[in-house]
Amino acid sequence: MSLVDYISERSKLIEKHLDALVCEKSVPYNPLFSAARYSLMGGGKRLRPILTLATVEALGGELSRALTPACALELIHTYSLIHDDLPCMDNDDFRRGKPSLHKMYPEGHAVLTGDFLLTYAFEVIAEDPQLQPTQKIQLISILAKSSGGEGMIAGQVMDLEAEGKRLEVEQLSLIHRKKTGMLITAALEFGAVIADAPAAHLNILSEFGQEIGLAFQIVDDVLDVTASQAKHGKETASDLTNHKSTYVSLMGLRESQTLAQSLIKSAVQKLDQLPHDTSLLQELAELIANRKF
Ligand code: IPE
Ligand code: IPE
Ligand code: MG
Ligand code: MG
Ligand code: MG
Repeated sequence: MSLVDYISERSKLIEKHLDALVCEKSVPYNPLFSAARYSLMGGGKRLRPILTLATVEALGGELSRALTPACALELIHTYSLIHDDLPCMDNDDFRRGKPSLHKMYPEGHAVLTGDFLLTYAFEVIAEDPQLQPTQKIQLISILAKSSGGEGMIAGQVMDLEAEGKRLEVEQLSLIHRKKTGMLITAALEFGAVIADAPAAHLNILSEFGQEIGLAFQIVDDVLDVTASQAKHGKETASDLTNHKSTYVSLMGLRESQTLAQSLIKSAVQKLDQLPHDTSLLQELAELIANRKF
């Protein structure tokens, strides 16, 4: 199967599963579920869940057992985007090719929809009948750490604190590793846990994840400047408007692209230590550096 076909097939599986996990309900608080579906369905590259599925497949694990935890990552990611776009954060009116959630629903609903998706991500793992109890604990722990106060949220706080300031590259690297890299790393670690991989293999995948995660956010900084809103599905030049330090503002376009490429190269080399066919993960990593949206 070509990479394009793989991504398209696996995205369909993920979307079908998300569709079943978050359905419309006829309850007095039904706008919560409509709003969650508005943000969750019909848009997004599904990179994080695809990385989990690809890892499980590379390690010889069972694909069907990976679907719920993979979708939990997408629930967390989507919540982070809803909150990231709020007027009190990046104040972006466009996301995944349509108006941001807070442009369609009252701002309070957007906050609460994010809260719901965050909490629900842990519920779907805890309740998944296909996972062993020890796997559930490991996954919940990885997800909490990567998205919490030492992970994505730490990155988002530092990102806000840094607005209007010129950072050193090392400081920006830390922000990017935390706000974006840690959830992408979690996707790889999820794959290792679901496939019952030994700790040494999990650690290799984790290092791979950290490098591709940083590369992913560097490319996001590049695309904020170079992509069109139509292609990107979100507002461009948002970083400039918000006076954010980005890789592009600190080192320029070409250097940022070169750095992203070299991170991917180094990440891919790490995969050689695994006794599996990891060509799929390699191709996905290379796509991160070369992506246009
Ligand atoms: C956007 O992530 C936010 C970042 C961490 C850069 P994606 O580029 O993966 O967004 P979707 O899921 O495809 O919309
Ligand atoms: C966001 O980084 C990272 C998150 C945790 C949501 P950005 O603010 O650069 O993401 P975009 O460009 O709005 O998608
Ligand atoms: Mg942001
Ligand atoms: Mg943003
Ligand atoms: Mg961005």
